Amino acid sequence: MTIHFIGAGPGAPDLLTLRGRDLIAASPVCLYAGSLVPEAILAHCPAGARIVNTAPLSLDAIIDEMARAQAAGQDVARLHSGDLSVWSAMAEQLRRLRALGIPYAITPGVPAFAAAAATLGQELTLPGVAQSVVLTRTPGRASAMPDGEMLANFARTGATLAIHLSIHNLERVVAELAPCYGDDCPVAIVWRASWPDQKVIRGRLDNIAARLDPAMNRTALILVGPALASEDFDDSCLYAIGYDRRFRPQSADSPFAQIEGERGEWPSEERGEERDTS
Ligand SMILES: C[S@@+](CC[C@H](N)C(=O)[O-])C[C@H]1O[C@@H](n2cnc3c(N)ncnc32)[C@H](O)[C@@H]1O
Repeated sequence: MTIHFIGAGPGAPDLLTLRGRDLIAASPVCLYAGSLVPEAILAHCPAGARIVNTAPLSLDAIIDEMARAQAAGQDVARLHSGDLSVWSAMAEQLRRLRALGIPYAITPGVPAFAAAAATLGQELTLPGVAQSVVLTRTPGRASAMPDGEMLANFARTGATLAIHLSIHNLERVVAELAPCYGDDCPVAIVWRASWPDQKVIRGRLDNIAARLDPAMNRTALILVGPALASEDFDDSCLYAIGYDRRFRPQSADSPFAQIEGERGEWPSEERGEERDTS
């Protein structure tokens, strides 16, 4: 018996991993975070499954559900939106399960920031412009930010920021970022990425608030940073003609020619250059 924590993706029911789908189909109990998990995913539950929306439940009540399933020897599919590694409240459930000796496993999902980037048709890291993406948020009613994790601190790096849980705080976001990024820094807001009614608003820090549709008041990501509107970036070395690399040695003398065919170990010069090698 196992509690399977499964990332249910950003909203489109087919943005679910095959492993996640199969685990849902094999679990006689399904606990889902109903505020964001699309109900269509519940169609994968087996006939007669116990299906519980945990949105109105307390942590104690959720753990009780899990403990009851364990006593009955039943696997549980525990669904949270997006991926489980960020803002899923999984950690507090895992801590209780460890204390109770209840086994669990984790199946990742498609996070909202990746769905938003796909909606925008953009790569969030561009050579020479931004090589980091910061997944962050602003403080909420129930969640203060740790010291040091202020937006302005992240903005000083020039990274692309993916700001979650903050659409209601847009004016504050703008006020904190404009001094570092400048008024003309590009911003994109993606509302309900991957949902049938998804919407995108683009602008700059100095005009994005005026462009926001007040109906877009939940389930939106604010993406900020120079990479969002740059056509002025370097090509990567990866596909550059003449770039000597493991999968495309440039001469018989190349150190990579000698290790051609060895797949297990990277030469020291290439460590840290591990990328998409298709
Ligand atoms: C509680 S967090 C969950 C994040 C999730 N675990 C993930 O991996 O993306 C909810 C926030 O994620 C963002 N979000 C979730 N789904 C989204 C979507 N389909 N489109 C845009 N933003 C989304 C919004 O900022 C929302 O306020």
